Amino acid sequence: MQINLKVFRYQPQSGHKPHFDTYVMEVDPNDRVLDVLEQVRADSDPNLAYRRSCAHGVCGSDAMRINGRNALACKILVKDLNSSDITVEPILGLPVLADLIVDMEPFFAHFRSVMPYFVNDDPIPADGKERLQSPQQRERFDDTTKCILCAACTTSCPSFWSNGSYVGPAAIVNAHRFIYDSRDNAASPRLEVLNDQMGVWRCRTAFNCTEACPRDIEITKAIAEVKQAIQTGKLE
Ligand code: SF4
Ligand code: F3S
Ligand code: FES
Repeated sequence: MQINLKVFRYQPQSGHKPHFDTYVMEVDPNDRVLDVLEQVRADSDPNLAYRRSCAHGVCGSDAMRINGRNALACKILVKDLNSSDITVEPILGLPVLADLIVDMEPFFAHFRSVMPYFVNDDPIPADGKERLQSPQQRERFDDTTKCILCAACTTSCPSFWSNGSYVGPAAIVNAHRFIYDSRDNAASPRLEVLNDQMGVWRCRTAFNCTEACPRDIEITKAIAEVKQAIQTGKLE
């Protein structure tokens, strides 16, 4: 099939304004948007800049706006878009470094602020075995372990667009993953960080994040659980 691919182009150092380039291309409907971008680089413009690594929905590096919705380019087939007009833009709310590549550092700074790692300074069990937890305890935070840090959620959130100081749904998801881990001891400092105007209270339940997540994580639900934990002082 023939498509009209519009791609956002911007090289901040060049002094030129952002613009779109359009490519009329023959592609297979089963091609992924990532394949189409690879084809542009191979056949038309080797300077087109985008991130990719695994090409299989695992590494989270190729989140972009595809026909107005955040998605991983390696997971969206051309035929899924139901249109021969395809527009690809960088995710919103982070500075563009080159074409489809954004500066992820502000995103990772928010991620780091919630202590996204296991904390437990208790002595290891006397028998030298792991810190055990039941299947039910593990199930409690299973959903939020699936995050691949692609930023599709945070960069689709209107609260983040209006104020980049908002910690954002991805950081809250990764805090949730440890707050509800029965083996972890740092729920309180994490909840303190999130009990802030720029923490969970900046979430207005817009649901864009949940709709954008390529891992189908119930992000808005996880945020609501963290809000409830702050309000009640209980982890349920
Ligand atoms: Fe990506 Fe989903 Fe993780 Fe957000 S929660 S960073 S959308 S995988
Ligand atoms: Fe934003 Fe998601 Fe809340 S889109 S407002 S973080 S529910
Ligand atoms: Fe790794 Fe798409 S390239 S998730």
